[in-house]
Parts: sequence; C-alpha cells; structure tokens
Amino acid sequence: MKFIEDAKRTHYCGELRGTDDGANVVIMGWVHQVRDMGGQVFVLLRDRTGLVQLKFDKDSKAFEAGGDLRQEWVIAAAGKVEHRGDHINPDMATGEVEVAVTELEVLNQSATVPFVIRDETDAHEDLRLKYRYLDLRRPSVQQKLILRHKATAAARRYFEEAGFIEIETPLLMKSTPEGARDFLVPSRMHKGSFYALPQSPQIFKQISMIAGFDRYYQIARCFRDEDLRADRQLEFTQIDVEMSFINEEDLMSVMEGLMAQMSSELHGRKLELPLPRIPYAEAMDRFGKDAPDLRFGMELKDASAVFAGSGFGVFKSIVEGGGTVRGICVPGGAGKSRKQIESLTPVAAPYGAKGIAWVKVTGEGFSGSIAKFLDEAAQAEVVKLFDANEGDLLLFVGGDAGVVLPSLAALRSHLGPEIYPERVGDFKFCWVYDFPMFEYNEEDDRYVAMHHPFTQPKPDDLHLLETEPGKVRARAYDMVLNGVELGGGSIRIHTPELQSKVFAALGIGEEEAQHKFGFLLEALKYGTPPHGGIAFGMDRVVMLFAGSDSIREVIAYPKTTSGTDLMAGSPTTVDSRQLKELGIDLAKK
Ligand code: AMO
Repeated sequence: MKFIEDAKRTHYCGELRGTDDGANVVIMGWVHQVRDMGGQVFVLLRDRTGLVQLKFDKDSKAFEAGGDLRQEWVIAAAGKVEHRGDHINPDMATGEVEVAVTELEVLNQSATVPFVIRDETDAHEDLRLKYRYLDLRRPSVQQKLILRHKATAAARRYFEEAGFIEIETPLLMKSTPEGARDFLVPSRMHKGSFYALPQSPQIFKQISMIAGFDRYYQIARCFRDEDLRADRQLEFTQIDVEMSFINEEDLMSVMEGLMAQMSSELHGRKLELPLPRIPYAEAMDRFGKDAPDLRFGMELKDASAVFAGSGFGVFKSIVEGGGTVRGICVPGGAGKSRKQIESLTPVAAPYGAKGIAWVKVTGEGFSGSIAKFLDEAAQAEVVKLFDANEGDLLLFVGGDAGVVLPSLAALRSHLGPEIYPERVGDFKFCWVYDFPMFEYNEEDDRYVAMHHPFTQPKPDDLHLLETEPGKVRARAYDMVLNGVELGGGSIRIHTPELQSKVFAALGIGEEEAQHKFGFLLEALKYGTPPHGGIAFGMDRVVMLFAGSDSIREVIAYPKTTSGTDLMAGSPTTVDSRQLKELGIDLAKK
C-alpha cells in the first residue's frame, strides 16, 4: 500500500476521540516525540489540529518501515484506534485513545531543528523569525493565525449580510504623502516616475462612493514607512469601510455590530451595545489620552486650584505660569515603599515629567513628599476631589498639559494591571469622537490634519477654519479597546469647495492640491453623495483578541522592529541591471 496515492488521510491527528474506538484510520503529520519503551515504541504525531499517540511493536512491519524515527520527520500511518482504558492522558484532547499502527511510511526526513517545536520555548524571537515556518508549527502560534483567519471570515460574513460590496483598490497608486512616509515603487516604463504603495485605500474608497457603490469594504493591505513599535508594522491589514448617505451614528452602529459578532464568534463574549461614546476633550481630561483604557478607574483630577493656594512653591508657580497640576488616586497604594514610588518616575519621564509628587492617605492625615505643604483644609479638599480613602496613594504631576496628561496616562496604564489584576482580562470598548480637526506640527511650523485632510469639519466650527484652525473639531471618531486605538474614521468632505478650503487651512496651495489630489477634487464635482467610513487595524484587533502583546505574533510573516524579514532576508540590494532598467543610479555612500 502506498500512502497518499492509495491510502488517503481519514482523520486529522487532533480529531480522534474515545467514540472512534475500533475505527481504522489513516493519519499523517510530523513526529513530535518518540519514546522507546522496550518492546514498544510510542510516537506523538502532530498536525495543525493537535497531537495523537501512535504505538507499534518493535518486531512489527511498521517499526521496520519507520526505523529510527526522529523529531519533525513527516510520516503517514494506518492503524486501529484503541481506547486507552485506565491509561487516559487528561492533558491531551485525544488522550482517551491511541492508534495501534499496522503500516507506516516515512514521507520525508527533517534536519535537526534549531529549537524544539513546543509552546514553551526560550528560543530568541530573531531565531524564531528566521525559521518562522518552524515557529509556526508551535501550536500556540498556529492558533493565533487560525484565530486571525476566523476574524477575517467573521468580518466577511458580517459585511456580506449587511449588503456591503468588496472592492479591490490598487496597490500601485499615486504618492500623496500626508501622515506617514510612502513606500515608492519605480516605474520601468516611465523612468524617473514612481508609484506609491497605499498607506490606506482612503481616496479610492471615497471615489467608490462617488461611483455609487454605497457600501464598500475591503480587507486591505496598507504600507507605511514609519518607525515600528509593538503595535505597528510596515505593512499591515485594515478592515476598511465606506458608506454613503449616513452620519456618525449610522456608521458606529454598523461597526459595533461587527465587533459584537467578532467578539461572540472569537471569544464567546457578548458585547453590550451601544458602546460608550466619549468626546475627545472629556477623554483627555479624565484619562489623559485619546485612547482611554476603561478597565481601570484612577481617573485624572485637576488639583491646580488646591496647589495654587498651597505652600508648595514648585506647583504654585506652575499654576501661576498657566500650567496645570493633576493627579490620580491609586487605591491601596499607600502600602508602597518610598523606593517603590520613586521607581515610577521613569514611567512618566519619557513624556517630559520632571518628577512625581505624592502623598499617602493615612488615618492621621497625609504623609509623604509634599504632605507638609497641604494644611488640613487643603487635605480635605484633595480627599474630596479624588474620592480618596485611607490607604490610598495620590500621585501628582505638574507642568504644561502636554506633559502632565500623557505622564499621568502612562502611570495609569502602568499601575492598572497591578492594582486591578482581576480586570486585566476584561474587554472595555468605547468610541471617542469630536477630535480636533488639526494639530500643530512644531517641526514644519504648520497645522496638519489630525485624522486626514478629507475629514469634514463640524459645521458649527466651520467659521473658525481660517481664523482659529486649532479650535475646529472634526466629524471623526475612533474605536478604542483597553487603551488601544483599534480603528478610526470620519464623515468626509463631499464638495470640492470645502475640500479646497481645508487644503488651504493645511497650507496646501492650489497648485500642490491640484498636483496631488486634482483627481479627487475633479471627482467631487460629479454628484458626490454624503459619505463616511472607517478602518480598523486588523492586526491590532486580532492581537487583542489573542491576548498577545505584539502584532508580530498575529502576522504570519512579520518584520522585525528594524523592518527586516529575517527569514527571506529582505530588504536586499539588487543587481545593477535591474537598477539600470529602472533608470536608477545609486548615490555613492
Ligand atoms: P488610520 O491611519 O487611523 O486611518 O488607520 C486605521 C487603523 O489602522 C491601524 N494602523 C496600523 N496597524 C499596524 N501598523 C501600522 N503601521 C498601522 N497604522 C495604522 C490602526 C488604526 O486605527 N484611511 C483612514 C481610515 C478612514 O478614515 O476610513 C486610516 O487609514 O489600528
């Protein structure tokens, strides 16, 4: 009998159960472990569904065929499923049974693997990425990609049922740098000209609304040449959506429906809808950032007024100078030692905080670094402001809001899991809306779009567009989960007049606007329906559902933080003939 040709696989390894007792099966997979127990050999065979135990006698035909089986060899085996009676292995899904092998064939051998294929591994990430195909054989890693597949499938099903049309937009498109840097692709046929890989399908999806598709979606690959972090890759995937004849509420309800479906299918967790909606200004005020983590309390409070009248010179002069003093209350934090509290300074330092002032709330009033500056009345005021209890720790940061808010936000995120370990596994979604339309970019000395230049300003703020652009709010919204921005979108500008005005507010002159976005301005003239949309970062969604800390874990073939693919070895130099064909000369180093 020849496996594959004559004997087809009947079961995956991980499928067999007690109810299969007595069945004749053919299975195929990778040798996970071999144990030689005197007269018998036991092999754990692995495929993407799990492990199953095979056994055969040393004097059998199967043993002869298998010979000296080694880890990661690929084999096929035929045999009978036997119940293990009293020797059930409760740690394996297939632990009730084993397969008594009658025939075995080695389909391929394997070189010695550079690390063992086990969930627990101390192999360095670089080594795992170099041999990503072996890393992907580890069950926990495989499960993450299967979860990703399920997420994509759930999204496609949801959009199909909701009447969306999937449209593929170009990967070779026009460079319109705004936000991140573009990846450029040289054109052979038009030497000296370049395509850009899309940072997102933004303009094409809007044009698809002008074309009348009404409800568009795409699981879209996007490219951004930016510095990488745990939640950023050079190429990543968006669940990209655009809809016509809708407002913010319509869009949000479609997207939270998607999240509810994914949450119940991937997680078995029911999402309470509608999700909380928080205006941007309130999010900044209460949580210090526009992507609030609602799992942990410890909201920021403004203590400027108390410190303005206190004897604490540093904070007093900050407030007098127009700065702010804010703090958070850490429940039960008074148990921390001075050293432990001081070790929090580096958490806030990257955001510009020069130090953290603190007091402990005790039965006899405040104790700690600045307690002596707060008299009884001031202490009572602080206790009331923070709703503090005996045993709590209060942390304060003073300075410009641009320093104070992110510093306290970082302290909240750092302390949350420690103070509320039981809440770490919670999933707290919210929408943040009413973002500022523009933010000031010190480096370029101009305003840039906070979301993107196609976002519609709020009608109430339109009169400020030319005079006080910093005060204009946008019809933009983000969905946030546990302090991570999952996605963002907006209601778009749908007239060329307003679009030109917004370009002007961004310092994009008429000529530049025509050069970069002329095709969009032209298209907007031809009966553009009111429309809006959003994009979710698929990698981030799956990362959070998988409980991973990095999006690399949920991307099959990710790049390192320095943008290299350690397996294939990209990026690489190319030979001079290729460059010549493209009309490219490399500058001498
Ligand atoms: P935005 O730029 O906010 O919006 O991107 C949407 C979402 O994409 C994810 N994301 C990333 N994920 C991994 N690596 C990256 N480098 C990366 N950059 C962004 C984030 C983010 O929330 N066209 C608009 C959407 C719209 O207005 O419809 C856009 O791209 O989760």
